[in-house]
Order: sequence, then C-alpha cells, then structure tokens
Amino acid sequence: MSAEPYPAIRSTPALEHLLTLADMPRAQMVALLDRAQRFSEGRDARQALAGTAVCTLFFEPSTRTRMSFQLAALRLGADVLNFDVSTSSARKGETARDTMKNLEAMGVRGFIVRHHDDGAVAALADAANPGTALINAGDGRSAHPTQGLLDMLTLRQAKGADFSRLKVLVIGDVKHSRVARSDLHALRTLGHGEGRSIEIRVCGPQSLLPQDATLDGCLVSQDLDAALEGVDAVMMLRLQRERMDEGLVASLEDYHRDYGLDARRLKRAAADAVVLHPGPVNRGIEITDEVADGPQSLILQQVANGVAVRMAVLEALLAR
Ligand code: CP
Repeated sequence: MSAEPYPAIRSTPALEHLLTLADMPRAQMVALLDRAQRFSEGRDARQALAGTAVCTLFFEPSTRTRMSFQLAALRLGADVLNFDVSTSSARKGETARDTMKNLEAMGVRGFIVRHHDDGAVAALADAANPGTALINAGDGRSAHPTQGLLDMLTLRQAKGADFSRLKVLVIGDVKHSRVARSDLHALRTLGHGEGRSIEIRVCGPQSLLPQDATLDGCLVSQDLDAALEGVDAVMMLRLQRERMDEGLVASLEDYHRDYGLDARRLKRAAADAVVLHPGPVNRGIEITDEVADGPQSLILQQVANGVAVRMAVLEALLAR
C-alpha cells in the first residue's frame, strides 16, 4: 500500500477535513502555523466552538494527541465527547463507520480519529454528512498531520520561519512512522525560499527505511555519526518495539549502539542544534535521558504546541 493512499485535503483554501499534509498548500500550512503561534502566546482564545460537539474517536492508545485535542476543544468552548473503545459497542462488533454515523446523528460535528488502518479516517470522511469534519489523529503508518504541524511550529519557534537554510536529520524507524511521513511532507512544503532548499537527511537501519517515494529528495544514510555532522535539528522517531518481533531490528542494544542519540553524538550537530521527539520516548533506546531532558531538547515544547496547533485546526474546520 502506498504511504498516502487517499487524496490530500479537499477543498482548499477552506478546510473540510484534515487527513494528511501531502499536497497541503504552503499558504494554508503557514496560516495554520501563524494562528497556532497566536494561540501558543495566549492570544485570541475565544468561544469559537461554543455549542459545537466534537468527539475524540480513538481506536488506538494515545496520551498527547488525545489529551491535547480535548484541551484544545475545551479552550474553544466546544462540547467534548471522549469515545472509549474498551467500553463501547465496538466491543460488540459495531464498525467505526456505524459508530461515527450514530454519533453524528446525535449532533457531533467534529471527529478526531485515530485508527490502526491506513486510510481509515479518509473512509470515515467519505461517509460523513456535509458539514461534519474529520481530523486524522494518526492512521496506520500513513499520516499524523497535527503532529507534523506541531513539529513545524516548534522548529519555526527555534530556528525562524525560513527553513530553506536548515539541515534537518530524521533518525529511526521511518518505515512504520506516520509522524515521519507527515514531517517530511511539511518540511518539503516549507523548505524552499530564495532559490534555496532545505537539506533533509534520514538515518536508520535499512530494514526500517521505506523503499517507496517517502524518502525522495532526502540524503539517506546508515551512519549516524556522519549524518549528524552540522545539522540544525534532529527529529527522533520512536522505535516501534513491536517491530522487534518481526526481526527488523537485531536487538535493542544493537539499535541503541547504532542509532541511539546520546550527548557525545549530539556534539557532532551544530552547537545550537535542537532535538525533537514526538513521544512516547523509549528512554535509553533511541535517546538517552541526558539528551531527552537536556538543554537542546524541545520535547515538552512540542507537547505544549500540540494544544495550540489543535486549537488552530479545530477553529479552521469547525468555527462558523
Ligand atoms: N505523539 C503522539 O502521537 O503521541 P500519543 O500517541 O501519546 O498521542
């Protein structure tokens, strides 16, 4: 299956759904980031969604995405429902589509959906009534667009809006990462200016790198020390430990030795390089405590920005 098995955001510039960052126009992405920046500064929060019901419909676990969407919706004055799959009629075999249609019949207008299947959120969007908005909170390995946006906001705050001068290194399990796909789409969209283009490097074991178009235009390497030389930002990915069972990684010790980011290695990056990680963090595997909690880490700033970005997305989709 391709990495982006469904069309990009329909009906630009007005957003109808947010399914992927592939093909999102740069102007639209910048407008969302500008709006999120204002929310992050505590400006402009208003009851834009008063009287609007939204539901977090998560079929996979989440801490950051789910909680920050809840908080974002509450800050905009929405009525927020949290679907708990473990106590729902999904346990009796009700499909995601029927679940969504029943909640829609109750008046829910916004669905924030995480699902294990690629394309599942797009399928729900196709089944929704006009005026109902679907937001992809992570589907399979395809896309996690609000994570991509919050990563771009965090990078912009640290390095300025001109990404074309930057060298950015993505490390780890790109093959299974919806975060990496959304980040790569966004970096390409924002990474051009004045005849220059961003340099995107990718480093990970061959077994965890996709063989499709995901890495087009990237400098790909298996040598982490070399890949780190002079980069401005390091975007770590979570090692999906379930992949161990598939034999794609020899051992956690080997992975940490070859692809783990520690303070010694980070010295190869630019002195003012920043480190991002979407969470949850496997401490001591893809990143050490001293880096995750160190002065160059923006991990908690990413989390804070998640609320602001999700406010901007909810407002763009649902405010009348
Ligand atoms: N980054 C991220 O998606 O985290 P959660 O799985 O906790 O939502």
